Amino acid sequence: MRSDLGVFLKAAVSRPLVIGAFAPTSEPLAAQLVEVVPKRGAPTVLELGPGTGAISELIRSRLPAQARFVAVETDRAMVDHLAETRPWLEVLHMDAADLGSRIGEGEVDAVVSALPWTLIPERAQGRILEAISRVLASGGSFTTIAYLTGTRFGPGRRFRGRLGAAFDEVLTTRTVWRNLPPARTYVCRRPIAATQQRGSRSGSP
Ligand SMILES: C[S@@+](CC[C@H](N)C(=O)[O-])C[C@H]1O[C@@H](n2cnc3c(N)ncnc32)[C@H](O)[C@@H]1O
Repeated sequence: MRSDLGVFLKAAVSRPLVIGAFAPTSEPLAAQLVEVVPKRGAPTVLELGPGTGAISELIRSRLPAQARFVAVETDRAMVDHLAETRPWLEVLHMDAADLGSRIGEGEVDAVVSALPWTLIPERAQGRILEAISRVLASGGSFTTIAYLTGTRFGPGRRFRGRLGAAFDEVLTTRTVWRNLPPARTYVCRRPIAATQQRGSRSGSP
């Protein structure tokens, strides 16, 4: 069995524009991301871009026994590695932009993402954010990594703007310097479009 790092590095070198990082997420950054994962009840948690499972392990360690934990990963080698090393994880081999076809509206209590947003075309970003907004339960949270290498430039700034347009609340956490590259996380709540749609269906203003 190949190591997580070996599989990650091979994928990062051969498909840099899909993987989007040089190394798996560090533990301090993963710990910051998983703070939105509920520790009680029977939550459903969705991870986007689990890669070799660095964040998945930490999510799992927080989850109560009744939880459902699903991950969406587009890279075949990562999917195969996860099946071999983390058989407890339900992995859907697909593009996150299509997740709405597999997960129902309002079903997910927390979405944790390590997707390389600034490398994803803007149209696909929009589809993924729409899908996240649709599957999030009211009261649910979506959190994602923002690499410092990207936040200062056009694509990173535009992505932050998109989050602000899509969610009623977007919080930025402190920077984790012990990550390669250093990064912070955005924590987003109350998707605007989905909340409006649900409100108009239930007749509330
Ligand atoms: C930066 S790596 C993070 C891997 C792992 N979660 C970690 O933190 O170490 C990004 C992951 O997102 C996956 N990915 C990129 N674009 C994707 C997409 N559109 N849909 C699903 N997964 C995607 C890549 O294959 C890769 O595994």
